Amino acid sequence: MEDKILVIDFGSQSNQLIARRIRQLGVYSELVSYEKALSMVQDDATIKGIIFSGGPKSVYDQEAFMIDESIYHMNIPILGICYGMQMMMHQHQGIVEYDDNHEYGKVELTIDIETALTKGLPKQQVVWMSHQDQVKQLPASFDQVAHSELCDVAMVKHKEKDLYGVAFHPELTHTEYGMSMLENFVFKICNIENRWEIASFIEQKVEEIKHQVASNHVLCALSGGVDSSVVALLLKKAVNDQLTCMFIDHGLLRINEAQWVQDIFEKKHGIQLIVVDARQRFLSALKGVVDPESKRKIIGETFIRVFEEESRKLHDIKFLAQGTLYTDVIESGTATAQTIKSHHNVGGLPEDIAFELIEPLNMLFKDEVREVGKQLGLDESIVNRQPFPGPGIAIRIMGEVTQEKIETVQKSDAIFHALLDETGLNKEIWQAFTVCTNTKTVGVMGDQRTYAYTLALRAITSLDGISADVSDIPISVLKRISNQIINQIPQVNRVVYDVTTKPPATIEWE
Ligand code: XMP
Repeated sequence: MEDKILVIDFGSQSNQLIARRIRQLGVYSELVSYEKALSMVQDDATIKGIIFSGGPKSVYDQEAFMIDESIYHMNIPILGICYGMQMMMHQHQGIVEYDDNHEYGKVELTIDIETALTKGLPKQQVVWMSHQDQVKQLPASFDQVAHSELCDVAMVKHKEKDLYGVAFHPELTHTEYGMSMLENFVFKICNIENRWEIASFIEQKVEEIKHQVASNHVLCALSGGVDSSVVALLLKKAVNDQLTCMFIDHGLLRINEAQWVQDIFEKKHGIQLIVVDARQRFLSALKGVVDPESKRKIIGETFIRVFEEESRKLHDIKFLAQGTLYTDVIESGTATAQTIKSHHNVGGLPEDIAFELIEPLNMLFKDEVREVGKQLGLDESIVNRQPFPGPGIAIRIMGEVTQEKIETVQKSDAIFHALLDETGLNKEIWQAFTVCTNTKTVGVMGDQRTYAYTLALRAITSLDGISADVSDIPISVLKRISNQIINQIPQVNRVVYDVTTKPPATIEWE
């Protein structure tokens, strides 16, 4: 049996990401609820290390999630992250308090005493924080081993046991040496050997799908993004001609998207698509709707209804396959995590759905999916494609979705991307797009007063969409983009660049 690291869920938005990072190190890891954790650890000798995730609660909340304290006496190394560390301090008679000095995003960390967790790492490093509470008094059994500008106790270590706590998020890619700390934890502190590989994922999923589908038929909702494309290829490998792929054109796509996707799948992958033109139906359903969550729910539901209607025209479809990723699941809320947005594919699904769902990627992250795509021979332009949200341009249009705003976003997006490609900047960018802000401002063009939309540009770097930094596009390039957009699109007279990281903002505006 493989040794493993158990990640205990206290509701952090990045809890599954911790497990994914450990898997990235070649070690099996899974996420479990804090209520089940103790009995799992008692029953499973392959658990060689435990990580407490962060979470939205405060330790002094009445309903704060608390782990059974026997876990500290099992002689298994534990790393507490954010809430996980605060709980560990609280349970060892330390004092945790709300602090006005919140730290969100990039923070400089200073290591005061080197431990096995920080072995070989620089004394000064950038970490990513997201907290409101702080440890105000250390338990007698712990040492403080690092601090940041606003947080005296940024890292702790038990004086005798292998119990560690960090006030920042090592699992986020923007924490400079986060991966090295996890590596130290897994290999130096828990003494685990490398065992797990992503290649086995494909074999395992193909077998699972074959078994689940048996002699039935599957409909795959193909969007042309990397996720659903990987699902389509996985299904083709598993059930071949029992698969039908359908592409719904909801009119909220990038320019010329439908044709582009059809060409790649039919010509390169030999997969025929049924293309459904539902543009008017979505536009009518969205008429007068301004609330972001309502837009998402309406699009998700309309999408499924169109699918159901179209599938009735086909024979015996029992399953619907979708490219839902873990990021979609987590941001839509789980038992312990808060709902940030109802992701189309997840929160938008009506309860009376007529298909059984197949979601083979729902434990993976974007970069893992790209790897699976590569190994399945998926066309490179799709493997490396920037993510595009299920609800499409609707969540990049503030206020009511109209045909005029859709075209404004489509055209400006194409100009933005053409210039990012031309300057080579797109290679470094994880996702770039334009947003119609629904705010009109006054301008002057050719001596005439204009009153038109302000368009926002968003370009971020990220590895997984869970955290994101703003892309450093030179101001000269931004000015060129602004010029071209305003010259070519009369509905726009002002362009701004969104310089907010995630957290605190999300990547999409709605
Ligand atoms: P946020 O805006 O939540 O986005 O920071 C994180 C990543 O998820 C994408 N996104 C979605 N993808 N269905 C999807 O398939 C959705 O409803 C959805 N909403 C956001 C977003 O583009 C970014 O890559």
